[in-house]
Amino acid sequence: MTELIDIKGVTHSYQTPAGPLPVLDNFSVSVPEGRFCAVVGPSGCGKSTLTRMIAGLMHPDKGEVWLHGERVRSPRKTVGMAFQNPVLLEWRTILQNVILPLEIVAPRMPKAKKEARANELLAMVGLEGFEGKRPSELSGGMRQRASLCRALVHKPDVLILDEPFGALDAFTREDLWQLMHQLRAEEPFTALLITHDLRESVYLADQVVVMSGRPGTTQYILDIDDPAPRPIDMLYSTRSVERLAELRAQIQIAQGRAPATEARA
Ligand SMILES: Nc1ncnc2c1ncn2[C@@H]1O[C@H](COP(=O)(O)OP(=O)(O)O)[C@@H](O)[C@H]1O
Ligand SMILES: [Mg+2]
Repeated sequence: MTELIDIKGVTHSYQTPAGPLPVLDNFSVSVPEGRFCAVVGPSGCGKSTLTRMIAGLMHPDKGEVWLHGERVRSPRKTVGMAFQNPVLLEWRTILQNVILPLEIVAPRMPKAKKEARANELLAMVGLEGFEGKRPSELSGGMRQRASLCRALVHKPDVLILDEPFGALDAFTREDLWQLMHQLRAEEPFTALLITHDLRESVYLADQVVVMSGRPGTTQYILDIDDPAPRPIDMLYSTRSVERLAELRAQIQIAQGRAPATEARA
């Protein structure tokens, strides 16, 4: 399998008034084409920094980021991104918001074709009939659905998701998790998801990478080989509960605490 996202030994410090702040230390991860990778780690360990590097918005001091066999040296149009805050433009309708990446990536595509593509995705995520609404007329969950459509509209080779479900209520979040599996089945993509939610990582990902505390490095990798799309009750299987316990213990190590099992002993 070809590695679609290949992050090799990335090391980075921010220059701050108080001196250099090391945020990433020799972090590596490889995601083969079509696979879904989740990255979990303590707050401030460099996860969002990493997503900016994959999108080509900033460069590491050391190490390399490769996408599709090409070294990332400048902003990449072929990356789709979605964040915790959907950042939709209020002066544009939902349809116009979703079309935005096509205006940048395919400016010569006829308007009708752009709209047809956006409408196809909006229907897929259950937003048929909301195309003409403004973002403020939609619920948080609906805005996040629209933002996922915008991330996918130009058929990006890589989808980067930085805590996109973090601000939603638990039921809406589970709906969107299932939607991710549905989207992936209909339009395969390679994804890197940043999340704080271990259940989310186990339900969605083929591979979960635990980052250490700052400076973030690759601390632990868990492969999840259950075939996708997955039923939501997969989360209640004995195997999933074991995986969640393992990930939780790893997060505690990343936070500099002893795993729960040792603490009890
Ligand atoms: N532009 C910046 N300049 C200085 N420090 C920054 C900058 N961006 C982020 N940081 C700091 O770097 C660390 C890692 O940030 P970030 O990548 O956003 O972490 P995470 O997404 O894992 O919470 C944090 O301590 C944050 O305060
Ligand atoms: Mg972050």
